[in-house]
Amino acid sequence: MTESRPAVDMEKLVSLCRRRGFIFPSSEIYGGLSSCWDYGPLGVELKRNIKQAWWRATVQRRDDMVGLDASILMHPQVWQASGHVEGFSDPLVECKECHKRWRSDELEGDKCPDCGGELTEPKLFNLMFKTFIGPVEDEANIVYLRPETAQGMFVNFENVLNTTRKRLPFGIAQIGKSFRNEVTTGNFIFRCREFEQMEIEFFVKPGTDKQWFDYWVEERLNWYVSLGINKENLQLRPHTKGELAHYARECYDINYLYPMGWAEMEGIANRGDFDLVEHAKSSGKGLSYYDEETKEHIVPYIIEPSAGVDRTALALLCDAYDEDVADGEPRVLLHLHPSVAPIKVAVLPLSRKETLAPLSQEVYAELRQHWMTSFDEAQSIGRRYRRQDEIGTPFCVTIDFESLEDKQVTIRERDSLRQIRVPIESLKATLQAKMDGEDLFVLPEGGKIWKEGK
Ligand code: GAP
Repeated sequence: MTESRPAVDMEKLVSLCRRRGFIFPSSEIYGGLSSCWDYGPLGVELKRNIKQAWWRATVQRRDDMVGLDASILMHPQVWQASGHVEGFSDPLVECKECHKRWRSDELEGDKCPDCGGELTEPKLFNLMFKTFIGPVEDEANIVYLRPETAQGMFVNFENVLNTTRKRLPFGIAQIGKSFRNEVTTGNFIFRCREFEQMEIEFFVKPGTDKQWFDYWVEERLNWYVSLGINKENLQLRPHTKGELAHYARECYDINYLYPMGWAEMEGIANRGDFDLVEHAKSSGKGLSYYDEETKEHIVPYIIEPSAGVDRTALALLCDAYDEDVADGEPRVLLHLHPSVAPIKVAVLPLSRKETLAPLSQEVYAELRQHWMTSFDEAQSIGRRYRRQDEIGTPFCVTIDFESLEDKQVTIRERDSLRQIRVPIESLKATLQAKMDGEDLFVLPEGGKIWKEGK
């Protein structure tokens, strides 16, 4: 699961995602909606696993972090204070011939890349979606769909501080939808108009910010590796002074080698005291922290690791996609790490014969208490293995006629095609150990090697 693989063709991946129920175009029966996507039965599991892994690593397993779920609609002053109303814009140009719109900062020349036509002068286009709160659609009632989850954590800084009695350094973590009316879209789920973010706002004493910034860069990079992403396909890219956002003192992107090239999967910024100072000014509330040691009120600095669920899902899918030959037949497989694989185990009775049904159902009922488990008895066992390989199921459990006698079943490992045979009573513990990284050929009592693999 760690060796480097050639970059996958995006078209193949989009086709697999659609065919197998990972991701569909939004409102497809009406022709789709540009840059909006629906996660199907497998996609929703993949996303839930990513979010759960992130929450475990950033909240559940730490003493210095707490969670939050702020509302998407916020007071419009939030976006004035944050600088989004003024500055969250892209420079937009339009082709005078074909009327296609482009981001001028992403164009190489000064002509339309599609038809070579002349372009208009750039105009700033604010990326926030607007709507109205209440029944009257006027200026006074404009609210925005949040373009980042971050602001919910800044404006709740005092609430969290007062209710949790956390001391610096501590962080707030949040997962939720964000919306941006992106000018240039495309590359599948890489740039969407509606997407999910996983953001941390980590509050630290000024002067310790550099140390915490470096800490989080390393921590976040390691997290992607823990999900099975190949290190060689990850890159850290520091922002130059010129490209730093208005609030940032320092910023690194964690880039992934997507099919279209290296691109940002997560941004980690040192936001200094910008956000708390601006919200304190705008709201008139003193957003500070009383330092017991120095007996002074200070405004903490903020380190912000900001990740995208959709871009992580895309990276995982790209990294996992592979084609090889298994049992003399070509196969497509996803080498997804068990922690993110949508289905962890498939239970496959060797035959549809009724005699196998009760035991197969019994095994299935037990395993689904613990993991997303699938049951498949249609078609040949070879085809059923292929179906599971293609969606990244790490383990298949097969029940055969001998199982009725010896109360043992086989476990097949997706990547190596190795198989072992284990007593049903130790099946759950064995699968758990394998998901946690134990080699397949480490056998439980009474178990045996069944097939050597490729
Ligand atoms: N609060 C800081 C912030 O929002 P950002 O770099 O604009 O920073 C953070 O966004 C992450 O959110 C990105 O690294 C990316 O993973 C995700 N993201 C941003 N815009 C996106 C879009 N249009 N579609 C999908 N993901 C997006």
